[in-house]
Amino acid sequence: MLNFRTILVFVAAISFVASECPCPDISLCQPLQIGSRHEKVAFMTADSNWRYYDYSQLTTIVICTDDFDPQLLCLAHSRNVRLVWIANYDVKQLGNATARTLWVNSQVDKVKKSFTDGVNLDMEDEIANGTITALQYTQLVQELSNLIRIEVPGSMISVDVGGTAPCDDGRCYDYTGLADASDFLFVMAYDLRSQIYDLNDCIASANSPIARVEGGLTNYTDIFHIAPSKLVLGVPWYCYDYKCLTLDANMTCTIEHIPYRGAPCSDAAGVQHDYKYCRELLRVNSTTGRLIDNRTGGVFFNYKNQGDGYTHQIWMDDPETLVIKYDLANTRHLLGIGMWQVDALDYSPNATQDTIAMWNAMERFHFRN
Ligand SMILES: *[C@@H]1O[C@H](CO)[C@@H](O)[C@H](O)[C@H]1NC(C)=O
Ligand SMILES: *[C@@H]1O[C@H](CO)[C@@H](O)[C@H](O)[C@H]1NC(C)=O
Ligand SMILES: *[C@@H]1O[C@H](CO)[C@@H](O)[C@H](O)[C@H]1NC(C)=O
Ligand SMILES: *[C@@H]1O[C@H](CO)[C@@H](O)[C@H](O)[C@H]1NC(C)=O
Ligand SMILES: *[C@@H]1O[C@H](CO)[C@@H](O)[C@H](O)[C@H]1NC(C)=O
Ligand SMILES: *[C@@H]1O[C@H](CO)[C@@H](O)[C@H](O)[C@H]1NC(C)=O
Ligand SMILES: *[C@@H]1O[C@H](CO)[C@@H](O)[C@H](O)[C@H]1NC(C)=O
Repeated sequence: MLNFRTILVFVAAISFVASECPCPDISLCQPLQIGSRHEKVAFMTADSNWRYYDYSQLTTIVICTDDFDPQLLCLAHSRNVRLVWIANYDVKQLGNATARTLWVNSQVDKVKKSFTDGVNLDMEDEIANGTITALQYTQLVQELSNLIRIEVPGSMISVDVGGTAPCDDGRCYDYTGLADASDFLFVMAYDLRSQIYDLNDCIASANSPIARVEGGLTNYTDIFHIAPSKLVLGVPWYCYDYKCLTLDANMTCTIEHIPYRGAPCSDAAGVQHDYKYCRELLRVNSTTGRLIDNRTGGVFFNYKNQGDGYTHQIWMDDPETLVIKYDLANTRHLLGIGMWQVDALDYSPNATQDTIAMWNAMERFHFRN
């Protein structure tokens, strides 16, 4: 769903004010010149926590804010971490070559003026299967890659794609073409309950069930013939809070029927929260304690919501379930791992244990650079 994310993207598109090199060492204002390496990609949605990130666990930060503190550039580049801008394009203008060229030029200009290292494309619009629109999206990415490789040597272009293919949430992209036209695809292996067709299954459940994540990766490599070295596995650092309409002895929590893109039930019945919020609920409000659903590999618990009086069920990932996904990235020889989003942790000094555990879990993905 990521509705809040789309809003951020449009804010980000408005403008970035160019500045002079903010770093005492002006070499830090060069785009990073680093050859192929394994990736650990963080999406940054707030400009307030970057001093506290674990840079030893990062290679790329995707800027999803409309601007960023120039000192982030100096720190990131000194730690060999790339900064790239998230970007969106109006799906209705994909066939408009003039609009594409203007947009490509503006993106390259923005990257150059901000001394950053590339662009991450996050369209997320529906594109019908087998239409020319899918090929035009690939064309846009190819045009951007062609220009930025000349204008900003060392830069990177990546594209966000659904956790399952083909046609996850109606997004029937030309996955093979997008992989060829970019440096890598960021596979959003979350929000996997965005389309539930069976109303008997209209229940709270895992956001990122391990079998679907595995099957999604298999489809990318086997159906679309994308090399694992072009795939970065994106995991959730956020959770879902579902109001239970009914709750049975097996802890099955039925949820409101909220349709999404043609399916009668979806995770839009739940509310997305940051990891830190759900950890706090687990500590303070949980009536069941932390449980693992062995079928999906998801963490869940119940609590009584003070606002509406209902029992709610939380579904989330935490270090124990995330390392299984990072291991999957190892065994499938993927290019990397990443998360939506890095500011979901509590970076205040009183929360260090929880936060460090999330960063340390990322060590499970082995760099083979
Ligand atoms: C194509 O894009 C250009 C530049 O943004 C715009 O002026 C023009 O109206 C667009 N054409 C159509 C048919 O939308
Ligand atoms: C999409 O179209 C292709 C052929 O154009 C077909 O092989 C494939 O099954 C279709 N996929 C879906 C999900 O409809
Ligand atoms: C993999 O692709 C098949 C064939 O299109 C589809 O039926 C299945 O749902 C996909 N699996 C996942 C996990 O996306
Ligand atoms: C709970 O699960 C058990 C085992 O799957 C099943 O036999 C039982 O009917 C379930 N109870 C309810 C209330 O659904
Ligand atoms: C999951 O499996 C573990 C170990 O087999 C077990 O202790 C636990 O109760 C299971 N979780 C649930 C929710 O059934
Ligand atoms: C969690 O418990 C605290 C303390 O009792 C309460 O103030 C808060 O409203 C509860 N949270 C929710 C979402 O119900
Ligand atoms: C840490 O403090 C912040 C407020 O500064 C609070 O919101 C948060 O819940 C606290 N976290 C822990 C783990 O106590």
